[in-house]
Amino acid sequence: MRDATPGTIYLEDYQAPPYLINRTELHFELGEEDTIVTSRLHLLRAVAEDVPLQLHGQELELLQVSVDNEELAEEAYQLTDDGLLIHQLPEQCVLSCKTRIRPQDNTSLEGLYKSHRMFCTQCEAEGFRKITYYLDRPDVMSVFTVSIEADAKRYPVLLSNGNLLETKPLDNTRHWVQWHDPFPKPAYLFALVAGDLEHIEDSFRTAGGRDVTLRIYVEPKDMGKCDYAMDALKRSMRWDEEVFGREYDLDIFNIVAVDDFNMGAMENKSLNIFNSSCVLAHPDITTDAGYQRIEAIVAHEYFHNWSGNRVTCRDWFQLSLKEGFTVFRDAEFSSDMGSRTVKRVEDVSMLRTAQFAEDAGPMAHPVRPESYIEINNFYTLTIYEKGAEVVRMIHTLLGEENFRAGSDLYFSRHDGQAVTCEDFVRAMEDASGMDLGQFRRWYSQAGTPILSVTDSYDAESNTYTLDVSQRCPATPGQAQKQPFVIPLAMGLLGDAGNLPLTLAGQETDHETEDNTHKVLIVDQERQQFVFDDVRERPVPSLLRGFSAPVRLEYDYDRSALCQLMSRDDDGFVRWDSAQALALQVITEVQQQLSSGAAVVIDPLLSGAFVQLLEDTSLDPAMVAEMLALPGESYLAEQAGEGAADVDLIHRARAAVKQAIGEAAEQVLLARYQALSSVDAYQPSGDQIARRALRNSCLDYLACANGAHLGLAHAQFLSAGNMTDRLAGLRALAFYGAANDWAQPLADFYQDWRHETLVVNQWLQLQAAMPDGGALDRVRGLMEHPDFDLRNPNKVRALIGGFAGQNPVNFHRTDGEGYRLLADVIARLNSINPQIASRLLAPLTKWRYYAGRQDMMRGELQRLAALPELSPDVYEVVTKSLQ
Ligand code: ARG
Ligand code: ZN
Repeated sequence: MRDATPGTIYLEDYQAPPYLINRTELHFELGEEDTIVTSRLHLLRAVAEDVPLQLHGQELELLQVSVDNEELAEEAYQLTDDGLLIHQLPEQCVLSCKTRIRPQDNTSLEGLYKSHRMFCTQCEAEGFRKITYYLDRPDVMSVFTVSIEADAKRYPVLLSNGNLLETKPLDNTRHWVQWHDPFPKPAYLFALVAGDLEHIEDSFRTAGGRDVTLRIYVEPKDMGKCDYAMDALKRSMRWDEEVFGREYDLDIFNIVAVDDFNMGAMENKSLNIFNSSCVLAHPDITTDAGYQRIEAIVAHEYFHNWSGNRVTCRDWFQLSLKEGFTVFRDAEFSSDMGSRTVKRVEDVSMLRTAQFAEDAGPMAHPVRPESYIEINNFYTLTIYEKGAEVVRMIHTLLGEENFRAGSDLYFSRHDGQAVTCEDFVRAMEDASGMDLGQFRRWYSQAGTPILSVTDSYDAESNTYTLDVSQRCPATPGQAQKQPFVIPLAMGLLGDAGNLPLTLAGQETDHETEDNTHKVLIVDQERQQFVFDDVRERPVPSLLRGFSAPVRLEYDYDRSALCQLMSRDDDGFVRWDSAQALALQVITEVQQQLSSGAAVVIDPLLSGAFVQLLEDTSLDPAMVAEMLALPGESYLAEQAGEGAADVDLIHRARAAVKQAIGEAAEQVLLARYQALSSVDAYQPSGDQIARRALRNSCLDYLACANGAHLGLAHAQFLSAGNMTDRLAGLRALAFYGAANDWAQPLADFYQDWRHETLVVNQWLQLQAAMPDGGALDRVRGLMEHPDFDLRNPNKVRALIGGFAGQNPVNFHRTDGEGYRLLADVIARLNSINPQIASRLLAPLTKWRYYAGRQDMMRGELQRLAALPELSPDVYEVVTKSLQ
């Protein structure tokens, strides 16, 4: 927290560090009141002139500072607002600082803090400066040796990065350990854990024959919930060897679960720290979605060992270098572990709902931003998910083999270095011989491009023409955009299936057996593609596999969408066509509702859904995805700025859902019954698919007819796993009246109150229920003994759930929903600025909401006027009001 207006940091101001820290020795004395940290930094000046050394530091109490064992005189250094300035250092020296910190009082969960009775750290991006004075920037890489002393009873387990060198008792109550990490790393990858923890252990032999000890440390209460993550870890290690040729490089790999954590997890070298919600699993407490998330996050953090740790970022503007690439890698892993199409659909659905909204809002930024005020605000869907899409497009353009060669070159060329997105792209170019010059605009231009396609067919000449144009809306600071390179994967659907493609002026490629799809390269504002030898008027199958993160405009009529939906050979296009059809129908009902016209719901949609449900040869998981109507926030975004009417959207969507439930009642019931299972729970693809479709049948049935709430209730009572139990409860809570859900909700709490992660789901469900009592219920739950404003998972569940998943109540016409959110943000601003800032997202979309804009902006203004605004909240609030 600072008094002055927080400043902006610019990429163009980047300068290499004037000093290097070759070795870092740290000693921690952990105590109940405070912790003393002693550092010995082996400094080397990297520039010719004698420049002062500016070390970062925040909330530190400096006790002593010396250079080469000589205590510094007061005038030799200066304490500044954000660190320590030291004048006149020898070219090479050992700087030692002794500082006092108070982890017990650290509610920001950044730096060293306490979660329950354990000490843990979170240093990315700039948390290390809350531990000791340091050059806390990713291009300063150092070899760390860390010793820790603490009370032996309270903290029998003392962990840091790398290998354990030594451990010894100190006196009759304290003990001491020393760790050494041979790999130079930036401070953001440092980690320390101390606590009374238990662990499970396994081992992995790398392709090169190294035996790695794998451990997952948890609080004793969680010992029964570690097996799935361990299995996922071993599968990740094997996969990274096979697919990317990456082997693990130390003899030990630890994971620690903590209950208080700002994000999902952190890839600290050999000591990954996880939010317990992203690592602990058991069928009693974890849903199928939870299992899949755990698998993906365990893999993500493990993959960072190469894409992030061995090769790291030069500066935080390059964050997507490690995050985009690593998300691409974990998505490929998940695709290989389960269904590629389903994984793609899930990812695209999230991207289009949330990342497109970010790209269209006040915080829009390029994959490689040019400036920021608070870096913590840039751990965004754009950096992660759009960044992964950019890597995926490179993969598409280069092809599997060249991409792998590019990846190999990148890792070998830059091993041990801190590099840039440019270095990544250049490695891809050098290995493939491909020119990605214009493609680089994906890194520098923000906003979601719009790809507009029209077509014509000439029956005389058997030619089919696609006219393609692209544009990109203005984003903050970027009024004009240059054309992107957009790989447009496409095919043409004819009566008997996908047609062979012959681009005019190109030889038919007889070598490839499959010539029914192509990737067109769209790299100009307008382009035309002519296909010869097209014997019938086709339906274009466009943006197959979502080959680029763009909005596609093509004027499909409903029968074309039905054809694509049932017969196209690209799973993504089939799903996307179902979404487009549902969107058309829901939008039409919105118009009818708002004009007062009779509501007529096109039976084409329910007819198509019945067909899907009747076809038992289809993957149930895909059917469930296709039956999922576009969400209310996606519909609001589609309506456009100033045009989203939340109540209308809610009513229209509910009406369409009900109509489908009624029209498909028989087949829904039949599938619901047939998909039931007596097998023991497994988080296997097969079982997850069956449960997904069965619960989606239940959802439609309960929505359509109160008589089916009995099914939901029976399922709630008899379910043998959390997925089914919660689905039953959710159906009661969303479609029933208070006397349907009040008792089940109370019983659920009684049964699971000892499991924090389940209580969080219970909070979230109640926050998202669309009934009129939601606001009061949320206010009440904030006083519940199980709610805690200092625990991010609880805040996300209750407050995030309300603001993000309950549009009709959050957008109440009396503005009380906005007020609740802003009140919480105001309190969190001083407790945990990162979480406060993240909660702001729903308010930043104020431009969309017809009739609500002034109230939403009013709350942002109220926050802007608060004294002592954190840089995190300051940045989002002020940018949203611009
Ligand atoms: N690098 C971590 C991850 O995998 C996330 C760390 C987030 N840190 C933050 N300050 N927001 O992906
Ligand atoms: Zn990551």
